[in-house]
Amino acid sequence: METDGSVWLDIAGVEEVPDGSLKEVSAGGARLVVANHGGNFYAFQAECPHMGGPLVEGALVGAQIECPWHRYLYDLATGENHYPRSILPAEFKRSLTRLRTHQIRCVSGRLEVKLASESA
Ligand code: FES
Repeated sequence: METDGSVWLDIAGVEEVPDGSLKEVSAGGARLVVANHGGNFYAFQAECPHMGGPLVEGALVGAQIECPWHRYLYDLATGENHYPRSILPAEFKRSLTRLRTHQIRCVSGRLEVKLASESA
């Protein structure tokens, strides 16, 4: 346990998430997706913040995940929504929600996540 009370949760073996793949897991009661992009691992909420699309069925586009429903693009590391701003009305642009991302690490061939708080 960390000094802030958070814990690292075991979610999968490294070999279960090959390069270029996505895997849905559960940790601490939350549904998450783990992505492997070029040997770097990322963890984020399983449901798209827009309308709940299943991100495990999405596509990796570089270091971004593309939602299968309306093709929003989220940065794997920061969760920022990269949907092309130029085609959206100004009011709508402000409503684009970030993807909630979680810290992830590899320890002895196992992947562990530390869940971000709901408000993070
Ligand atoms: S539900 Fe994901 S972009 Fe709409």
